[in-house]
Amino acid sequence: MTSALELNRWVSEALSAIESAGDMEALKSARITHVGDKSPVALASRGLGALTSEERAAAGKLIGEAKTKIAAVIAERTSILEAERDARVLLEEVVDISLPTRRTPRGGLHPLTLLRNEICDYFIAQGYGVAEGPELEAEWLNFDALNMPPDHPARSMQDTFFIEPLESKLVLRTHTSPVQIRTMLENEPPIYVICPGRTFRADELDATHTPVFSQVEGLVVDRGITMAHLKGTLDQFARRMFGDEAITRLRPSFFPFTEPSAEVDVFFNDRWIEWGGCGMVNPRVLAACGVDTEIFSGFAFGMGLERTLMVRHDLSDMRDIVEGDIRFTQHFGVSL
Ligand code: DAH
Repeated sequence: MTSALELNRWVSEALSAIESAGDMEALKSARITHVGDKSPVALASRGLGALTSEERAAAGKLIGEAKTKIAAVIAERTSILEAERDARVLLEEVVDISLPTRRTPRGGLHPLTLLRNEICDYFIAQGYGVAEGPELEAEWLNFDALNMPPDHPARSMQDTFFIEPLESKLVLRTHTSPVQIRTMLENEPPIYVICPGRTFRADELDATHTPVFSQVEGLVVDRGITMAHLKGTLDQFARRMFGDEAITRLRPSFFPFTEPSAEVDVFFNDRWIEWGGCGMVNPRVLAACGVDTEIFSGFAFGMGLERTLMVRHDLSDMRDIVEGDIRFTQHFGVSL
């Protein structure tokens, strides 16, 4: 039979195993070893039946006390280990809400695109259509149909990118004016369109030039169109672009596709600024497009978008528009 001495040894073995258990797993195996079905204490309990009732009472009491003591220590150790585990989990699984997120910027529209959209919206609201043409354009549409035959000086003044083979008679369009021709060839008047787009000239990139730039062309062909309509249209357009105080003036000029022709200046920020070209569509151009010049007349205008943006936002270097640095774009309140 189990002696009190033996029992004490089991209890102290059990207690030290329980107390040294470093985690819940270790505690579980200590419990199985020291108070499980096959533990000495359990075996001793089972042996009680073989004792006399007197011995049984005394031994039962000792075993009972031993079990109670071990159970108490297990309970205490369990709560310590659980608290430790919870604290560790809180630390290990902590979410640092101050960490920077891995954010994928959605991107935003370039200021030039925003300006183009603004211009389109403005004219669309007045009933104009938006016409587009190819950037790789037929020489005939870029020049000849606009009253610039091959030997015309205006033709050589534009630093044209010609496309090889030269027999292809293709150029990178030097202006958006060929879209006027395409529009008149494809549509009967009345015509009210604007034609925004990219244009190309063999210039070096510097503060005021870029080989790839953008223009917006306006074309109106209808009965009884006069220069007063042109002036009024430009005045309103200028106010939309530069604010209600803006006024325009026309200076006599020359373009082969308009007659008369003018440069349009805008008075903005206390100074006159060259904004674009304009005029009454040359009857030769109308006729080349099959428009009956006895019935219809028209006006046209064309301006650079980069220039418009530079004037309006007081930019000094065109390269900032071209280079695509997002810090430039963000200056226009575009969130990326
Ligand atoms: N196409 C001309 C250029 O690029 C600009 C221009 C002038 C367009 C007069 C027009 C216009 O429609 O009437 O220099």
